[in-house]
Amino acid sequence: MKAYRASILYFPDPAVRRAVLEVDGLLVVGPDARGRQVVQALGAHAELAPRFAGVPTTHFPGRIIVPGFIDLHIHFPQIDVIGSPAEGLLPWLENHTFPQEKRFSAQGHSAEAATFFIAELLRNGVTTALAFASSHPESVNALLAEAQKNQLRLIAGKVLMDQHSPDGVRDETEQSLLDTEALIRRWHNVDRLGYAITPRFVPSCSAAQLHGAGELAVKYPDVWIQSHVAENRDEIAWVRQLYPEARSYLSVYAQFGLMRPRAIYAHCIHFDDADRTLMRDTGAAAAASPTSNLFLGSGFFDYAGADRMGFGYGLASDVGGGTSFSPFHTMLAAYYVGREGQTKPGLSLSPQDLWWQHTAGAARALGLDGVVGNLLPGCEADFVVLNPQATPLLARRAAQAASLDELLFSMIVLGDDRLVETTVISQAG
Ligand code: GUN
Ligand code: ZN
Repeated sequence: MKAYRASILYFPDPAVRRAVLEVDGLLVVGPDARGRQVVQALGAHAELAPRFAGVPTTHFPGRIIVPGFIDLHIHFPQIDVIGSPAEGLLPWLENHTFPQEKRFSAQGHSAEAATFFIAELLRNGVTTALAFASSHPESVNALLAEAQKNQLRLIAGKVLMDQHSPDGVRDETEQSLLDTEALIRRWHNVDRLGYAITPRFVPSCSAAQLHGAGELAVKYPDVWIQSHVAENRDEIAWVRQLYPEARSYLSVYAQFGLMRPRAIYAHCIHFDDADRTLMRDTGAAAAASPTSNLFLGSGFFDYAGADRMGFGYGLASDVGGGTSFSPFHTMLAAYYVGREGQTKPGLSLSPQDLWWQHTAGAARALGLDGVVGNLLPGCEADFVVLNPQATPLLARRAAQAASLDELLFSMIVLGDDRLVETTVISQAG
């Protein structure tokens, strides 16, 4: 067993967007029945220290231990796409994204990029991610092998895209489904890894490919599903042409059996209430991707609409449409987006709510409640040590915080990777 003494942030009820800061806290971690390091105890140092007197303790004075962040939607082969301007989603895909993703057919490039990508997640305090690889199975192998080496909880999938995509990234219907199944068998539930069936979006997948993806989802009920929906108006018009009889873009995924718990749809911006109801009733969840939506001019996730109908969601970077790996940048962008909400303009999302969306809330969306995204006893011991003195302005502002909300807001507004002092990943055995 090991213990860590610092201020500790956690969510006493992971279903509720309210955090508690144990100002002088103790976090005790030790192996569970499988030998994986999990939280054994969490509380005030004064109360717990006598019980764990013999346990080696690391003291982080002035630091805050927080649950590792969860990125609900990120593209591994888009690290070199960040900051590529375009008129909107479709030209951005064509001119910047597909050319970069082509490079991932080369094993050497995938391996080099995977090492960089995982290191960048960790540097930013992200300890769990749901990631798109490219359409090349090698890119999934490179990414998951690197995550395994680092003992990261990573869920990833080979992108399915058998139409309306250029040579070099377009896959072949039957082979793409065979590859997907082989990758599920190789990686899903190995160590901390998971597989996600990954149709890119409706325009890039033939009906046969979507149908095959739905069949795999039935055959492997605990794998994840990830895709994009209702991000951009031109994209939506294209789907309407392809499926004129469909009630909505989202309903096409439902038609192919791709909506259920563990299905995560990025963006979910241009929804009506029937779409929101479909999300809720199927147990699918949204990955709100605010820096991407602002960068590509896609629109604004409607927080009030989502909460009114009661479907699950969490935060995501959507790198490389998104502009940053940093959860602080994503939470700040989500705050801006909340203020632009369609059904309830001027919403002021609380910092505890924003933080929840990137930790315990994201874990709920993934069906990993009680596993990651929190520090309650039993949770896997993934956490981040933050230094609120990391920059002069943050040190000054944080020192004057009169409440937990003010402290969290100072970090959301002024924070970035400099705030992340150490990222600790739960170790096996
Ligand atoms: N829709 C289809 N592919 C993509 C992608 O790579 N990024 C984003 N943001 N939207 C998409
Ligand atoms: Zn995306």
